Amino acid sequence: MDKIVIQGGAPLIGEIEVSGAKNAALPILAATLLSSEPQTLLGIPKLMDVATTKKLLQRMGAEISEQEGVHSVQVKTIKSCEAPYDLVKTMRASILVLGPLVARCGEAHVSLPGGCAIGARPIQLHLTALEKMGAEIKIEHGMIHAKAGKLKGAKIYFDLPTVTGTENLMMAATLAEGTTTLENAACEPEITDLAQFLNACGARIEGAGTDRITIQGVAALKRASYRVMPDRIEAGTFMIAAAITKGDLVIRHGRAEHLASVIEKLRAAGATVTEEKDLLRVKGGAVHAVDVKTLPYPGFPTDMQAQMMALMSISDGLSVVTETIFENRFNHVAELRRMGAEIRLEGNHAVIKGVQKLSGAPVMASDLRASASLILAGLVAQGETEVLRIYHLDRGYERIEEKLSKVGASIRRVKGAA
Ligand code: EPZ
Repeated sequence: MDKIVIQGGAPLIGEIEVSGAKNAALPILAATLLSSEPQTLLGIPKLMDVATTKKLLQRMGAEISEQEGVHSVQVKTIKSCEAPYDLVKTMRASILVLGPLVARCGEAHVSLPGGCAIGARPIQLHLTALEKMGAEIKIEHGMIHAKAGKLKGAKIYFDLPTVTGTENLMMAATLAEGTTTLENAACEPEITDLAQFLNACGARIEGAGTDRITIQGVAALKRASYRVMPDRIEAGTFMIAAAITKGDLVIRHGRAEHLASVIEKLRAAGATVTEEKDLLRVKGGAVHAVDVKTLPYPGFPTDMQAQMMALMSISDGLSVVTETIFENRFNHVAELRRMGAEIRLEGNHAVIKGVQKLSGAPVMASDLRASASLILAGLVAQGETEVLRIYHLDRGYERIEEKLSKVGASIRRVKGAA
């Protein structure tokens, strides 16, 4: 397994580029199952989760090629409706093939994703909604077996604003008979990106980005060419990298409209954030303590919670970080403590007393965003930090050590480390 080694202390200065959004690319790739025509996709990031999704789609019959960052994907016919455990266990987002498969070929056999480091991650809301559209669903031996004739439009209310649940049902509804409404839908920008791709293919979706989405079913979807949105969580991570190292970073493709809550918190914490067309500029200064509570979009993103906690570890006061989305998303706390952070957990609250300095140490990544938090802490800690098990990081960040070293970080990847 690789590890990343960082010598802390260098302020990050210069321009850093954000790649395409992982959490938009995954549903958009799954959506290619809905049409027999060739799709042209630009800005798909080079990530482990993307590679896993492409492998899954190819098993189902997708022909995929890539040339200079342009992907061509075509699923002329579905050869297999199965998403097996060996693939799903490495990436829960495989559940995103469920809706498209049932809509396209009337059946799907998808391994139950199971939990992960940050929580139980149930998907019952996806299944109940598909049943409302006429699918028959059975769960046996850890597999979801779904069967349907033509799906029927339905009025669906989600008990919780589930991101992939909204995406699964939006995709399934594009080919259903009649109209589907999704109430209490998730509003994340990645959902809007998926809807824009689907509408470019001839779907009739309105209201994406709000909590009420309406989808008029159509007979078939056609070819389209689409560029995936930039990754707002990668952009937010780089914003905190500038703040924590008291640097000055231009974040190319950072979109202010996707990060309003993060910008607000960083300004309150003492960073200077300027918004320009297709970029953000962040200059670090004194780090003030601010409280953060994660909420569904447009609230503060849970995917930025661990990164914000790294910044608050060196603030000038006491801050409280509250995680309301996942029940176990504080795996980074024990590792930050090893670096000298003073953090006390009380249920879903983390109380952080800022310290003057963090000290470098060997630490263990446990999930994608916890890994990012440890990298950020290593950038400012005194001495050397080793982040182990960085396969977690490679799931969601493209070449992060190259991007960070280009703006002054002393960071390197050691291949095949213990
Ligand atoms: C998506 O996960 C993202 N993944 C996650 O990003 C992100 O943290 C999460 O949304 C919240 O924003 C992708 O888009 C691939 P949810 P998802 O369904 O869809 C509960 C990352 O770091 N729930 O919106 O799985 C669930 O337990 C990853 O890139 C049910 O109870 O999340 C959670 O508490 C991590 N029953 C809450 O809803 C259900 O049927 C939100 O989950 C579905 C969800």
